[in-house]
Amino acid sequence: MNLDLHCTVNGEPKSFRVAPGDRLSEVLRREGYFGVKVGCSTGDCGTCTVLLDGEPIVSCLLLAAEAEGHEILTVEGLAKGRELHPLQVAFLDEGAVQCGFCTPAMLLAAKALLDRDPDPSEDAIRRALAGTLCRCTGYENPVRAVRIAAERMKEGAR
Ligand code: FES
Ligand code: FES
Repeated sequence: MNLDLHCTVNGEPKSFRVAPGDRLSEVLRREGYFGVKVGCSTGDCGTCTVLLDGEPIVSCLLLAAEAEGHEILTVEGLAKGRELHPLQVAFLDEGAVQCGFCTPAMLLAAKALLDRDPDPSEDAIRRALAGTLCRCTGYENPVRAVRIAAERMKEGAR
């Protein structure tokens, strides 16, 4: 029997009709949040990362019904209108937008990191990004972009 999921997505209250076995990743994509990518569906690749109450989770392993009452942030919610988040700007500046699969997850993982640690060490940045697997290019540019975003945010970019 289907049920109504009530949650907040990117700051907006939402109600979605879901089946008990629906994963959060599939519901979000069904509802148009295509920044949520599905790579493995087994919790290994990290491309389906969203923030749940500010913490990164792999949304392919969470039943949508378990998100009842929670706040979800997808990459679509990072920008404020036409104003990109400093992380997005830094990713663009540093050539860290590598592909559409890993970038949304890296941005969200980095946001969660900077929210709890505005001045992270390189090691902390690498650990925060480690949950998103990329076998194509590497992590150098994203790591540098997160560092630069942190510096800009300290200077008041947001
Ligand atoms: S699709 Fe969720 S971790 Fe790979
Ligand atoms: S998975 Fe995106 S560049 Fe490798």
